[in-house]
Amino acid sequence: QKILGQHGDLAGRRVIVTAGGTHEPIDPVRYVGNRSSGKMGYNLAIDARDRGAHVILISGPVALPAPYGVELHQVETAMQMRDVVHSFITNADVLVMSAAVADYRPQVAATQKIKKQTQHEAMGHQDGGALTLHLVQNPDILGELATTLDGDGDASRGSGGISNTPAKKRLIRVGFAAETEHLLEHAREKLRKKHLDLLVANDVTRLDSGFGTNTNKVLIFHADGAMEDLPVLPKTGVATAIWDRIVPLLG
Ligand code: CTP
Ligand code: CA
Repeated sequence: QKILGQHGDLAGRRVIVTAGGTHEPIDPVRYVGNRSSGKMGYNLAIDARDRGAHVILISGPVALPAPYGVELHQVETAMQMRDVVHSFITNADVLVMSAAVADYRPQVAATQKIKKQTQHEAMGHQDGGALTLHLVQNPDILGELATTLDGDGDASRGSGGISNTPAKKRLIRVGFAAETEHLLEHAREKLRKKHLDLLVANDVTRLDSGFGTNTNKVLIFHADGAMEDLPVLPKTGVATAIWDRIVPLLG
């Protein structure tokens, strides 16, 4: 059994975990969202807490209780999540982005509830009352850190660039990739593009993996090109496996 607090292998560390999906408002009662339950991220936060870390859990809207002993910050949108991540990044040792950040948001959120056209009004229109949402891209919270922390271009992680604080060890960055096809190719590409230390990939078309499930079947990709294929595990076990791989990367 692990002991809460001081003697864990993350004692004295500050870690940021993001969890859940973001909600991008269409109007005061509707949003664009995704199927993330937040379970993977909450398990990661709880495991880090049990290993002695100070945990900052930045969560989108989820139906999970606030974990005891974790600093929880609730957000709704990708832009809010980005702001909160930035506000804690300077002193952090690790950032684990398990949140399913919405890639797009409605360009404008209507201030009042959008009313549908009545059947009668719709009949007079060629589109039969269709509604078009104009979506714009959200910033890539993890991806943009590759530039701000490492400098741009092919600068390897940790060398050169702007460090999160001067003379402080660099921030370990871990990403997730939920894929429905070409898992290996997409995962390797994300690891490289976002300059990650680790990328955890899962095939969300499997019944035992991904959204809403309590188990997960993941592949872990390392910065040096190594890849590990983990068996189906409870999400608590996946969380432990991930921290077991992060701890040795901490200087
Ligand atoms: N991510 C992020 N900010 C975004 C989108 C994604 O920080 N706006 C992070 C996720 O939290 C995850 C990683 O980037 O750790 C990969 O997310 P994913 O959605 O799989 O990749 P994308 O780069 O968004 O590519 P795509 O959705 O097109 O596959
Ligand atoms: Ca995405």
